[in-house]
Amino acid sequence: MSTTSSGIRFDSVTVAYDGNVVLDALDLTVGPGEVMALLGPSGSGKTTALRAVAGFVRPASGRVFLGDRDVTALPPHRRGIGMVVQQYALFPHMRVEDNVAFGLKARKAAKAEIRTRVSEALEMTGMGAYARRHPRELSGGQQQRVAIARALAVRPDVLLLDEPLSALDAQLRSGMLAELARLHRELPDVSILYVTHDQVEALTLADRIAVMDKARLQACGTPRELYRAPANAFTASFVGNANLLPVTVGAGGVSFGEAEIKVDTGGAAAGASATLCVRPHLVGLGDGPNRITGTVREIQWRGATHRLYVDVAGHQVMADVRELREPPVLGEAVTVHFAADDAVLLPAGVGRD
Ligand SMILES: Nc1ncnc2c1ncn2[C@@H]1O[C@H](COP(=O)(O)OP(=O)(O)OP(=O)(O)O)[C@@H](O)[C@H]1O
Ligand SMILES: [Mg+2]
Repeated sequence: MSTTSSGIRFDSVTVAYDGNVVLDALDLTVGPGEVMALLGPSGSGKTTALRAVAGFVRPASGRVFLGDRDVTALPPHRRGIGMVVQQYALFPHMRVEDNVAFGLKARKAAKAEIRTRVSEALEMTGMGAYARRHPRELSGGQQQRVAIARALAVRPDVLLLDEPLSALDAQLRSGMLAELARLHRELPDVSILYVTHDQVEALTLADRIAVMDKARLQACGTPRELYRAPANAFTASFVGNANLLPVTVGAGGVSFGEAEIKVDTGGAAAGASATLCVRPHLVGLGDGPNRITGTVREIQWRGATHRLYVDVAGHQVMADVRELREPPVLGEAVTVHFAADDAVLLPAGVGRD
C-alpha cells in the first residue's frame, strides 16, 4: 500500500455550536507517520477536533492543514482521510466487501481497483475470509476490523480513529491494540489521530499524547514526558495515578501540613500555594527522606502491591507498596516517604473531577 506522508496541523482551530465554544483555539501538529492520542474526559472536544480534520464541521476560526495543504474549506471526500467514527456504524444491509468498498465507490474508483483495494484492506485487518458476510454475522471485534478496513481502503495519508475500541471487552481490546500497533508498522507513513479516554490505550499506542479538558489542550508530549513531568495537575491525574498534595512553597522545599518536604521548587515564590505530584508507586512505607506521618484509612490488596490510603491532616496520600509481608492495620499510624527526585511541583490546581 503506497501512501505519501503528510501530517496534520491545527492552527488555532476554534469550533462553536450555537455560540458555545467546544474547541478553543487548538494548536497541535501530528507529524508524518506519527501516532497522536487525543486523551480527555467526555465532552472535552476530542470528537470535534477529529471532525474538524475530516471536514464534517467547519471551524469558526483557525485553519486545518494536511501536510502543507490548507484543507479548511475542502469538502470531506477531497481530504484523503480515513475515519473510524465513534459508533463504528457499518451499513447493516451491505456485505463486508461492500462496506469496505463504500469510500472507493463514492470516489468513483474503477471496478478492478476497488476489488484490489478491498481485498488488500480486508487482508490487512485479518478479515479476508469474511468478505461475503453481513455485519450482523460478525462479532463486535470483527465489525471493528471491518470499520478499520473501510477506512484503510481509500489509502489515506491520515487515519482518524474515534474511540475505536470502546465497544469491545477488555480482552478483545488488548488484542486489537496489538493489531493496531502492527497495522501502523505496516503503514509507517500514515499519520494517526487516535481519540480515547483510556490512558492505557494512549500510553500503549501513541508516540505523543495530547490531553484535552474543557475544550482546551492542557498538555502535549510523549507518554514518558507527561508521566514523569506533567505540566499541570489535570494532566498528572489523567496520565497515570497521582498524589496531588496541596503544599506551600518555602525555602528549598515545600510544607505539607506538618511535614517539610525537600523538592526542587523551580523558582516558585516563597509563600505561594502549589501542588506536589508524587506517583503512588514511588511512595515507600517507613522512615526515609521527605517523610510524612498519617493514619491508614484503607488498604487494598492488588496482587503485586498493596495500595495504602493514608490520611494526613485531612488529605489522602496513596502508596503502592510491594512485598508487604505484614501490612499495617486500619487506623494505624504510619510513616511514608519519597525521594525528592520523584516529586514534581505543579501550579496549584486539582486533578480530574
Ligand atoms: N452537533 C452538535 N451540536 C451542539 N453541540 C455539540 C454537537 N456536537 C458536540 N457538541 C458539544 O460539544 C462538546 C464536545 O463534544 P465532543 O463530541 O467533541 O466531546 P468528546 O470529547 O468527543 O466526548 P466523548 O468522550 O463523550 O465522546 C460537548 O459539550 C457536546 O455536547
Ligand atoms: Mg467523542
